[in-house]
Amino acid sequence: MNPFLEEIVEKTAAAGGLDPSTVRGLLAVPPEESMGDYALPCFVLAKELRRNPAQIAADVAARIEPETGPGGRIAAVAASGPYVNFSLHRPAFIGHTLDEIAAPGREYGTRGQGAGRTVAIDFSSPNLARPFSIAHLRSTAIGHAIYRIHEFLGWGCVGINHLGDYGANFGQLLAAYAAWGDDERILADPIRELVGLYVRFNREAEEHPELRDRARDCLRALAAGDDEMIRLWRWFSEEGRKEAERIYGILGVRFDETLGESHYAGRLDDVIAFFEERGLAEESEGALIVPLEDQPAPLMLRTSNGTSTYHSRDLAALLYRHRRHGFDKMVYVTDKRQSLHFEQLFGALRRAGVDWIDRCEHAPFGLMSFRGRALATRKGEVIILEEVLDKAIALTEGIIADKNPDLAGAAEVARQVGISAVVFADVNNRRTRDINFSLEEVLNFDGETGPYVQYTHARYCSILRRHGRPADPAADTGRLGEDGEMRLARKLSEFPGVVESAAEENEPSYVAGYLLELATAANKLYNEVPVLVDEDEELTAARVRLVDGARGVLRTGLDLLGMSAPEEM
Ligand code: ARG
Repeated sequence: MNPFLEEIVEKTAAAGGLDPSTVRGLLAVPPEESMGDYALPCFVLAKELRRNPAQIAADVAARIEPETGPGGRIAAVAASGPYVNFSLHRPAFIGHTLDEIAAPGREYGTRGQGAGRTVAIDFSSPNLARPFSIAHLRSTAIGHAIYRIHEFLGWGCVGINHLGDYGANFGQLLAAYAAWGDDERILADPIRELVGLYVRFNREAEEHPELRDRARDCLRALAAGDDEMIRLWRWFSEEGRKEAERIYGILGVRFDETLGESHYAGRLDDVIAFFEERGLAEESEGALIVPLEDQPAPLMLRTSNGTSTYHSRDLAALLYRHRRHGFDKMVYVTDKRQSLHFEQLFGALRRAGVDWIDRCEHAPFGLMSFRGRALATRKGEVIILEEVLDKAIALTEGIIADKNPDLAGAAEVARQVGISAVVFADVNNRRTRDINFSLEEVLNFDGETGPYVQYTHARYCSILRRHGRPADPAADTGRLGEDGEMRLARKLSEFPGVVESAAEENEPSYVAGYLLELATAANKLYNEVPVLVDEDEELTAARVRLVDGARGVLRTGLDLLGMSAPEEM
């Protein structure tokens, strides 16, 4: 932790007879700059200490000596009602923060604290043979950010794409093909045609429920190794893979392990043996289940048709992954409707006495809606991601033509900004919140958006270009200490803690929210003080250091979210 804050914590804890971690948790930034740089609200302590908060504040403040000499960190302490306000020696704080950022040989924000540990992240994992929809993007964008954040902290990362190339959906597709399939049309436009078949199946099955039996028959034939079923399955899943790969190329996402559910369908017997050996598998109405006491439903290992289930394929996959990667943490990134699925998955392995199961986490995310409506692929309500990205790029081109008509390489910048805008919108909300997607909102350069952060970064790059030489890491910060400078430095000092919590809680939105605040602090500074001050090289050099530090953190942060950081836009 920052030594300035640590000093406030230690002295306050000693002065108030408090636990340092309590103080650390309470420390906040006062609402107005004139009050100080940090504040300790004493309401919460009142109950524990059985005294009124203003008295506690007065006592604590009276017992802490400010340090006036060189090397001092706390410049002033004052009680104000129920708060203790602390003012730091601002030039020293700012200097320290910028030294940390510029420290040679390491990247600011990481201490390599994940070194020696492995995290496996199951993300994206789309159901194949459908267009890659905007709803699929959530798992891809969030999972990719979780990956990059861990990687930055030194973790060994295994990105896993658990392709949905098996199961009920595929049975339905095969049955639809048998009824209405047309090879020529599929060859001409595979994904559109295949999703059309799938949608038609679900529509017609409402009136002709016997179609569902056909789908089960197809799946059973596939599981039994029927040549024709296998040929079709290969064809359709290959088209689906190609479609997904294209999207990953556009987004710059890659995986370390891509294995379809089909891969694990063949391991059903091993999974059953695993639970039978432990006496946990039971017959129930022709199916094989693992009863789970504290869950609303048992986990089904095998259907009464004898086929594997989403659960048994996930069990096989998890056992395999643990054997292969020996992970310290395993994260599944899916929408929150699958929470029960994962509780059951983990619950069954816990019952089986698997001692590493507590390393597995489900990181659920909320649903995405459009104009307030959720979409269902099976009803043909697909918003195709690629179309959204194309539109985002086209709109960004328009905005750039308007704002910066002479920009060199405008088309490439528009591509980077358009794509990143959609990604940012996905990671910017607390994971579990449902979000309503609106392209106009995500592209607003002045709103809480990706382009706003990118624009701030580009603006800071442009200051440095005007300065014409690299920031001098030795420049003296003794004259820095204006509110705007302190505000920005304080934000910069928070970055390492934000990244660490984001990894711990699998919550990239912490980084996104932080970047918005950092961008706001950076823009405010820009509006409040000139960075390049005529005839004052010393002050210019100090402020350039601050600007350079902020530019670097903006870039690192964007990078952690899988976004690009153009230097001009
Ligand atoms: N294919 C599933 C879907 O689209 C997500 C799979 C998530 N990963 C897993 N191991 N179950 O809903």
